[in-house]
Amino acid sequence: MADIEDAAEDTNAAVWKSDIGVSFWKSTASDRERRRAGHRELMAELLPFDAAEPFTFADLGAGTGAAARTILDHFSGAHAILADFSPQMMAQGALELEPYTGRYTYVEFDLTQVGGWPAQIPDPVDAVISSLSVHHLRDERKQTLFGEIIAHLAPGGWYLNYDPVMPPDPVVEEAWLRAGDRRDPSAADKRAHRSPEEHLRYENHVRYMIPLEPQLGFLRAAGFEGVDVYWKELDYVIYGGRRPRA
Ligand SMILES: C[S@@+](CC[C@H](N)C(=O)[O-])C[C@H]1O[C@@H](n2cnc3c(N)ncnc32)[C@H](O)[C@@H]1O
Repeated sequence: MADIEDAAEDTNAAVWKSDIGVSFWKSTASDRERRRAGHRELMAELLPFDAAEPFTFADLGAGTGAAARTILDHFSGAHAILADFSPQMMAQGALELEPYTGRYTYVEFDLTQVGGWPAQIPDPVDAVISSLSVHHLRDERKQTLFGEIIAHLAPGGWYLNYDPVMPPDPVVEEAWLRAGDRRDPSAADKRAHRSPEEHLRYENHVRYMIPLEPQLGFLRAAGFEGVDVYWKELDYVIYGGRRPRA
């Protein structure tokens, strides 16, 4: 019964598989991507490939391909498998990815489906990334997904995740809010006066978001080595690790 109730409250598919949700995402993209460009660069810089080396990586919850594009820009021999469950996000991505034609493949993949990896993701795959999608998954699924990622990675292959995290305690939360509100003086007002749509998006954003530490534990438990927080600023992090070479 609890599961049925929880599932009814999970608005994630409704948000991402709706024209309105995707229009909103598109309308806020340029501001967001300006802020995130450096973080996305770091994900590319962390990958262990030579500039022209051929390799294939999967981007889980790829959306319109913002994270994958940075990697394609860094590595001329890279091919991206962009996995997502939203036809609307993939259609928008196909427009934006026109300059990368031939260097990427979209595949439908609902990340909530245990063991549902599409055959188009090579097994093994050279690297896996995710960006702003894992926080939409329940904790049990975060854990099984990390297990599936390491099982699909080639030995020595890296997984990197860029995601928001919850504060571990109220003191940290207060500090994050203080700094965030100084950067955006309208933020406190926006928090206090969300429209119903903004409230829905916010609820969807935070529903399964958890602090950082347990996620690092999930990676280690799955068998990753080199697990680290490679970048962090307030509530946004890049963490990851690699599949042991042998
Ligand atoms: C916040 S957007 C991030 C998109 C992109 N990775 C980026 O960094 O710009 C979240 C993406 O995760 C996808 N997503 C959410 N839940 C998913 C699921 N269960 N299976 C597959 N994709 C999912 C959404 O469709 C959307 O494209």
